[in-house]
Amino acid sequence: MCPPVHFKVTYSINPWMDPTKPVDLPLALAQWEDLRDRYRALGHTVETLEPHPELPDMVFAANGALVVDGRVLGARFAYPERAAEAEIHLEWFRGHGYRDVHEPSHVNEGEGDFAVTASYLLAGRGFRSSPLSHDEAQEFFGRPVIGLDLVDPRYYHLDTALCVLDGDEVMYHPAAFSPGSQAVLKRLFPDALLAGEEDAAALGMNAVSDGRHVLLPQAATGLLAPLRARGFEPIPMDLGELLKGGGSVKCCTQELRP
Ligand code: ARG
Repeated sequence: MCPPVHFKVTYSINPWMDPTKPVDLPLALAQWEDLRDRYRALGHTVETLEPHPELPDMVFAANGALVVDGRVLGARFAYPERAAEAEIHLEWFRGHGYRDVHEPSHVNEGEGDFAVTASYLLAGRGFRSSPLSHDEAQEFFGRPVIGLDLVDPRYYHLDTALCVLDGDEVMYHPAAFSPGSQAVLKRLFPDALLAGEEDAAALGMNAVSDGRHVLLPQAATGLLAPLRARGFEPIPMDLGELLKGGGSVKCCTQELRP
C-alpha cells in the first residue's frame, strides 16, 4: 500500500476524476490509515511504498504489479501521468528479495486488470491493459489467462467490475462486460454473486477478500446480505475521498502472493 500523502485530482483519466472537485487530504489519509489498520487487525502484513510528490495516483498501489507464486510482473501504464510509478514498484521488489521480476513489454496496469482465481488469471482489456499483455502474463506465470472485454468507461479496470472472493468463487457486475465476456464468465463461474447497477456504481466490486473477510466500499450495501449468505464476513470501509480518483479498497491494495 502507498499512503495518499500527495493524493490530489489534477488530471482526469477516468470518468470518476473531476479536477474541479476539491479533495480533503487529511480525510483521505485517515480513511487510508483505517484500511491499513483493518488489514493489520485481521492479521495481515502490510508493506508500504514511499509516496512520490509528483505521482498523485500512487495511492492506487494495485496498479503497480501483479505478484503470483512470488513472481512479479511489473506494470506499464497506459497514461503518461502514471508512467513513472512502474519503476518505483520494480525497485521495491528488487530491493525486497524478489528474484523473478519481469519488466513488461506491453501495457498492463497490474492488479487493476488482472485477477487471480484458483484456476485462472482473469485479464481485463478495453480501456487500459493491452490484449498483448494477456499473452505476456500467461507465458510468464504459466497460468491460463482468460481475456475479458470491459465496455463501460466507469468500470475501466477489471477490479472495478469483478472481485475474487475465494478460490474460483467470484462476484461481478455483468453489464461492465461485453456479451461474449458475460457468456464466458457465466460458463466459468455459474455460481458467481452477480452485482447490480447500484452496488457496482458504489465501486462495490473494488473489494478485497482474504477468503473469509471481504473489505468493501461502505455504500455497496446490497452486497452485505448475499456475502453473508455465502459465509463471508463483509467489512464496509469508507474510502470516499479516494473515490474521487476512481478507486477504492482494491485499488489501494496490491496483494503479495507468495
Ligand atoms: N486515478 C487512477 C487511474 O485512473 C485510479 C486507479 C484505480 N486503480 C484500480 N486498481 N482500479 O489510473
